[in-house]
Amino acid sequence: MHFEYYMPTRLIFGRGKLEELAKRPLPGKKALIVITNGRSMRSLGYLARVENCLKKQGIEAVVFDKVLPNPVEEHVMEAAELVRNENCDFIIGLGGGSAIDSAKSVAVMARNPGSYWEYVKGERQLSENVLPIIAIPTTAGTGTESDPWTVITNSETNEKVGFGIPETFPFLSIIDPELMVSVPTRLTAYQGMDAFFHSVEGYLANVAQPVSDLYALDSIRLINEYLPQAVADGNNLQAREQMAWASTQAGMVESISSCISEHSMEHALSAFYPELPHGAGLVALSVPYYSYLLKKDRKKVKERYIDMARAMGKSGDKPELFISALKELIEKVGLGGLRLSEWGKKKDEAENLAANSFEAMGFLYSLDPVPLSRQDATCVIRDAIY
Ligand SMILES: [Fe+2]
Repeated sequence: MHFEYYMPTRLIFGRGKLEELAKRPLPGKKALIVITNGRSMRSLGYLARVENCLKKQGIEAVVFDKVLPNPVEEHVMEAAELVRNENCDFIIGLGGGSAIDSAKSVAVMARNPGSYWEYVKGERQLSENVLPIIAIPTTAGTGTESDPWTVITNSETNEKVGFGIPETFPFLSIIDPELMVSVPTRLTAYQGMDAFFHSVEGYLANVAQPVSDLYALDSIRLINEYLPQAVADGNNLQAREQMAWASTQAGMVESISSCISEHSMEHALSAFYPELPHGAGLVALSVPYYSYLLKKDRKKVKERYIDMARAMGKSGDKPELFISALKELIEKVGLGGLRLSEWGKKKDEAENLAANSFEAMGFLYSLDPVPLSRQDATCVIRDAIY
């Protein structure tokens, strides 16, 4: 047994904990607050609350509010310039994964020269510090509050790639489930399923380790129990709270184990179709993907499928139980009728999408429990498109 465990983020978790922002030592004197281009952070009053907390500590703030649901590199570069012009010394991401991931990428580019993409591609090494990052998630799904990953799309090349280094772990994350009651039903389902697959993939990855296994199985159990409740009633704070913790645990799974090629395939789908929500892409891929792994090498995944099925309340010793539990969960969260063709996808694109998934995020294929070829990926994607 060999593994490393590194989780440098301070997590403050609980209802009403946003107010801790006014009390805790913060890593600078002037913040850039990154939010998306939607209205919700203003209309729900979350932005004003964050600004007030900072004011109580004598900290100034500037807002960057252009981030798209699938964030693009241009906005990272623009916000980094704003940081330099305004002399900000730390970055706050407030919102869903797109706002927080953008905050991380802005923190990387604020002091470093060149284009963001050169660092993502490994063509250039960081020469200057990454600014400290504070994550305040208002959704439960990406796990970005407890992982170093930031996912940005290069709209010129249609590549949507995850990037992360030890410095892009947040300095502080405040996870306040009360901020999550406002998430609409459909998004709650998509985001919760994203967290679910972070844990499932991290449990199956060939780099899984004892601590990630504990977090993964617990978050699979919690999501199976509480996501249907959060979807049925968004104001159910207990369900929101359990989902927030499940998502944060799943983020830690992504940090100390890893996602596998299901995420590479999904990033290819949503790089070409930016309107496709990440969680929707994952759900559509999931049954074909996990059935394929089982068919390809039953022995390699059998035990772990059974463990996950048990975490989802199934008893028995057949790995197929995990596929049935997954289908039931998808039904229970109202995503049973999801079709990729609604987003314009066609079966004959499968080969290109599979190729893109290897080019942009090929690394995750090396962590799969069962090695998949381009041909295999094409089959999975083709099965998922209908
Ligand atoms: Fe994800």
